[in-house]
Amino acid sequence: MIKKVGLLFSLSGTISLVGKGQLMAALMAIDEVNKNTDLTFKPIIRDDKSSPDDAVKLAYSLFTEDRVDVIIGCYMSSIRNSVISALNETGGLLLYPTLYEGNQVHPNIFYLGAVPNQQVMPLLCWTFHNISSNFVLVGSDYIYPRSTNQQARYWVENSGGKILLESYFPLGCASFGAFFRNLKKLTKSNRSAVVFSTLVGTSVPDFYAEFKRNMFSFPIVSPLTSEREISLMAKDVSSGHICASPYFQTIDTEFNNQFVDGFRRKFNDVPISREMMTTYGAVHQLFKAYKHADVLPYGNNEAEKMRMVLKDLYFLGPQGKLIMAPNTQHLWQWCHIGRINKEGEIDVIWSSPGPIPPEHDGPNLGITIRCEERKPIQNECTPLIGLNQKFLDCVKVAEIAAATSSSVLITGATGTGKELLARYIHLCSTRRQEPFVAINCASIPRDLMEAELFGYDEGAFTGAKKKGNPGKFELGNGGTLFLDEIGEMSRDLQSHLLRVIEDKQISRIGGTKVTCLDVRFIAATNKNLELEIIEGYGFRCDLFYRLSVFHIHLPLLCERLEDIPLLANHFLWNFNRRGRVTKHFNPEALCLLKEYEWPGNVRELANYVERSFHLSGSSQEINPHHLPAHLGSGTTGYRVPKPDQGELAGPWQATRKKLSPDSRRPKERSLYEKRDPSDLTPKGIKTLMEVEEDKIRQTLRDSWFNISEAARILGIGRSTLYRKLKRYHIDPISRF
Ligand code: ACM
Repeated sequence: MIKKVGLLFSLSGTISLVGKGQLMAALMAIDEVNKNTDLTFKPIIRDDKSSPDDAVKLAYSLFTEDRVDVIIGCYMSSIRNSVISALNETGGLLLYPTLYEGNQVHPNIFYLGAVPNQQVMPLLCWTFHNISSNFVLVGSDYIYPRSTNQQARYWVENSGGKILLESYFPLGCASFGAFFRNLKKLTKSNRSAVVFSTLVGTSVPDFYAEFKRNMFSFPIVSPLTSEREISLMAKDVSSGHICASPYFQTIDTEFNNQFVDGFRRKFNDVPISREMMTTYGAVHQLFKAYKHADVLPYGNNEAEKMRMVLKDLYFLGPQGKLIMAPNTQHLWQWCHIGRINKEGEIDVIWSSPGPIPPEHDGPNLGITIRCEERKPIQNECTPLIGLNQKFLDCVKVAEIAAATSSSVLITGATGTGKELLARYIHLCSTRRQEPFVAINCASIPRDLMEAELFGYDEGAFTGAKKKGNPGKFELGNGGTLFLDEIGEMSRDLQSHLLRVIEDKQISRIGGTKVTCLDVRFIAATNKNLELEIIEGYGFRCDLFYRLSVFHIHLPLLCERLEDIPLLANHFLWNFNRRGRVTKHFNPEALCLLKEYEWPGNVRELANYVERSFHLSGSSQEINPHHLPAHLGSGTTGYRVPKPDQGELAGPWQATRKKLSPDSRRPKERSLYEKRDPSDLTPKGIKTLMEVEEDKIRQTLRDSWFNISEAARILGIGRSTLYRKLKRYHIDPISRF
């Protein structure tokens, strides 16, 4: 069977460098597809000359005269938008293999490139923390750069950074003299800065060369500059600049190495960019979709059939595994940040912990077009937000666990995001279409818990419903069962649970029918179960080991200081979106948020953001008076000591001494909370207990947190050591 495929690229004009690369990638993939199958693709190639007007005419004739069902192509957003009228009239499909400004969902477009939260925002955030918070925004003068910079400005300003300058240049512009004179003046006294570039096409190498001639000491960061543009620059011009992409040619995976070798054999040494990789992937995805559509009864309209099938496809490509968000037809994407080295190659310096789901509600929808039929939906899960290494390590383990069906134990203090991580594991797993059933073991009375978990048959006990009731195990069958606060489960029920995990079978109370169970268990607690086991407080050791095949311990928010502005802005953004306003934190408010100790962790931060959003009324700015007094005044509440202050240092300790411990903390402290430094004796003189505590901490570190070894070194028994750990609130799992 022969299928025609439209390839619509900019093969001439200002962005032909990108378009020609996309064509090579498409032809290579078509050759691969045509080699080993009864389905053959016939490419119909068209050049839009980098012009939106030409593109729409060509798209129309591809659908009506050449009778293709699907076009792969377009780079600039202005071209994609112009083609929409042809899609509306003909019902044809577009596979769009390019990053773009987001906020668009058209039923006939599959968006295979990144949206801002998948590439631009991580790049801005990394730059803010690693280079400078003073941004200079430059871009080519059309929709993508203007819309992206609008979002970048919002993000930078809300994070306490500054936009020093924002400039646009006509497409194809080759000379930037006035701009560089202005930039020189602005950065004269060695003020730190960074250029964020959304220039496209031939302007890119010219801009970087002129930047080099002006000898600025800071780099250019760009979500657009790729291997193609870099190949046109002298090595000393490109070296040291930063780019971001879901894919770099240098990514060292077996699949990518084979892909790059294949490309080299066919086209010699051409540089491979993300658009080429995505176009290559698009052809393979289309092939897979035609194969699936063939056997599915979706009616006669080929394009509609393809649309139904494409939404649910997985595809393994050089970028990794690609998952489509079916409601919005956007892909989950990796984000890698790279620095260009002296050889003109990109060294990866940061990678997202996994593919990032697409988000569609930016702060400003002003520029993007409205598409009919389908509204953007909320992203499917609340994103995991953070750059802190401990947190990222947790996410990495969660992703490894997601690829298996093994049980996971998530520990951490209240409000650290245990349920969010559990949901993330579920969504990253092959069970994501199946139910996620959460049960809070602390909130259900003990005598009802068994019925709640196992269900019951009619007549099982007085008051049982007619026809009985399925339990959570049955409701979650095929999916994930999340047992929150597992530390509260009674010992009897623990034995039943253990049997279920081992036998993978259940029967309802009062019933005889046995149901086979296929669920993944994720349990969570803020207790230190290991300590409970040793101290004989009621948690079963065998169940602990069954549940903790993967054990993830989430850090406290005060251990993730760098994530506080990101999280605060994320929560604020959600309120802005609902209220259609654009409030932001002023720098002093952000500073206070960073200094507070957050005993209630991320949940407490979310509450304070909500409260400050409402208290700030019609003001656009959230400032310190909108925050609770104990954050703002400096005379109440508790602050994290500045790095140069020791635990016993002056003003901070004096502030804390005024408070009674009970006014600050709930009575029962979780074992994961840090010891309150106000318990220490002033003037640096330590009590015997403090000396003992320090010795225990040091010995644990020296013995790599091996309890038996630490007890041996200290000359005490293991159970004595555990008693002392409990007394001093030392948590050997979190490795303080
Ligand atoms: C773009 O214009 N979407 C790069």
